Amino acid sequence: MLFCVAAVAQSSSAPAKPIPATATCASCHRAQAFSQPGTQMGRAMQVPGDNLDLVAHPKMTFRNGAYSYSVDTRNGQSQYSVTDGTHTLTLPILWAMGAQAQTWVVEHNGKMYESLVSYYPTMNGLYLTVGDDTMAPKTLEEAIGRPLSEEDAKTCFGCHATNAIVDHKLNLATLKPGLTCEHCHTGAAAHLESAIKGDHNDLPPSLGDLSTEDISNFCGGCHRSWELVVRAGWKGPSNVRFQPYRLANSKCFNGADPRISCIACHDPHQKVVRDVAYYDSKCLACHSPTLQTAASPASPHAKSCPVAKTNCSSCHMPKVPFPGGHFVFTDHQIRVVRPNEAYPN
Ligand code: HEC
Ligand code: HEC
Ligand code: HEC
Ligand code: HEC
Ligand code: HEC
Ligand code: HEC
Ligand code: HEC
Repeated sequence: MLFCVAAVAQSSSAPAKPIPATATCASCHRAQAFSQPGTQMGRAMQVPGDNLDLVAHPKMTFRNGAYSYSVDTRNGQSQYSVTDGTHTLTLPILWAMGAQAQTWVVEHNGKMYESLVSYYPTMNGLYLTVGDDTMAPKTLEEAIGRPLSEEDAKTCFGCHATNAIVDHKLNLATLKPGLTCEHCHTGAAAHLESAIKGDHNDLPPSLGDLSTEDISNFCGGCHRSWELVVRAGWKGPSNVRFQPYRLANSKCFNGADPRISCIACHDPHQKVVRDVAYYDSKCLACHSPTLQTAASPASPHAKSCPVAKTNCSSCHMPKVPFPGGHFVFTDHQIRVVRPNEAYPN
């Protein structure tokens, strides 16, 4: 221990002024720092102690064929148990993935598993994990869930946590649950240090300056980009959850027009706005007959609606139930929806 402290003290160049231990992003960027941790992205992964859904449901049970499951929460600890009636495995829940619906990561004999059952707010309890309904476990071990290879765990934690991957390897010691500032703002740590010293030259790259196309790809790093979905050939209603892909398929999309960027409609530091009227001004930024085109002289205004003047997204961005029925997503392929039309790909 002593040796480590000494080594660090020698190797780091001493700052001009001591860095106050209390200085954080919040000292200077109050708005983002106070709202972002409460967003779905901020809570994309949780530890049992902070997990309000588990606290609110201290005992949940579920039966799947020969196996019975129970998730028990007490004193900030949650246990995931599976039994065949004779033998029982009880494993502590290490992490919950997902801010609303949640799937758990547990460990058994040194191997990580994704739980076979998940919590769904729409069911107020447990049900099979999406995609696992075809699994037919034959042993108690198999009934825990899907084993996560190192590669699976890396991608999982890469999208749901921060600093999970160091030198291309999963690092549980540096991992912070959920998306924190550093996940999106690379260079934030160096900026924090220099900002405290009063030096503002070391700014993180401005994401607000990215083109619409580049923002789609940036968000698409987790929400899946157009290119990825096309290459993977993901067809049918389950691709409704891939907003960058759906939006790019819409006639409204123009990779060079900031009015149709993800961040024109969403502030990643705020909870998603679930109020249809909020989005009207976003549509009318292009679809208004009285629009001044000065802001974007190259793109004249788009046609206006013959049917209605408000609540645009309620008709043109339909809610699509995700196969399995536990979630509903908003289709970002903005269009005129015809009665009985098939889901457009
Ligand atoms: C001592 C004050 C201070 C602290 C602490 C600080 N910043 Fe900043 N930050 C600034 C200033 C000043 C700017 C440049 C002016 C501006 O754009 O607001 C800036 C700019 C930024 C920008 C670029 C904005 C843009 O789009 O150009 C980001 C992103 C950012 N900070 C994130 C962070 C994060 C994340 C942290 C915590 C790890 C942090 N800052 C800590 C003062 C600070
Ligand atoms: C590092 C991965 C990552 C990146 C990059 C990312 N997201 Fe997310 N986002 C997530 C995850 C994971 C969730 C789901 C959280 C949950 O519900 O568990 C999410 C959820 C959301 C939600 C909330 C959905 C809801 O149901 O309330 C919105 C809105 C959103 N993201 C928008 C964006 C936008 C816009 C960008 C780009 C500026 C972006 N995200 C970039 C991983 C990411
Ligand atoms: C490429 C990035 C990415 C990877 C890899 C990833 N997720 Fe997600 N996850 C997301 C995003 C984005 C959302 C929110 C939007 C959505 O639901 O599709 C999400 C949502 C979720 C949810 C909320 C319910 C749901 O399905 O919407 C759960 C639970 C979840 N992920 C678990 C996992 C687990 C477990 C793994 C690893 C086996 C994993 N995710 C891997 C990006 C990712
Ligand atoms: C999911 C990705 C994501 C996360 C997480 C995130 N940001 Fe941002 N941030 C963005 C994007 C995209 C922009 C550019 C668009 C905008 O200004 O909202 C941005 C812009 C900013 C700006 C410049 C705002 C302005 O008005 O110029 C600051 C400052 C900032 N972020 C601070 C933070 C802080 C502090 C945190 C952590 C509490 C954080 N961000 C977390 C994506 C993110
Ligand atoms: C023209 C406005 C607009 C643009 C651009 C836009 N969204 Fe959305 N987004 C919406 C609306 C409207 C909702 C649904 C809000 C509600 O439920 O009332 C939504 C919801 C979401 C959700 C929550 C899950 C869901 O399906 O309801 C996520 C995640 C999301 N958007 C991500 C993105 C990403 C990533 C981009 C960029 C590729 C993007 N959005 C671009 C309008 C937009
Ligand atoms: C960047 C500018 C822009 C934004 C923002 C935008 N659109 Fe569009 N939209 C267009 C253009 C351009 C077209 C194609 C030409 C036309 O119809 O005028 C189009 C086409 C459409 C169509 C006809 C599509 C079809 O299938 O024939 C509808 C409906 C539509 N938009 C609704 C909306 C709604 C609703 C919103 C907000 C949620 C929105 N748009 C946001 C530019 C935009
Ligand atoms: C009650 C549902 C509803 C609402 C709300 C609504 N629309 Fe429409 N919109 C339609 C229908 C239906 C059509 C197709 C009309 C037709 O082809 O006869 C349409 C057509 C359109 C078109 C194509 C026009 C053309 O000439 O090709 C655009 C663009 C559009 N709407 C934009 C919007 C915008 C922007 C808003 C909000 C200000 C909005 N809509 C609100 C139902 C709606």
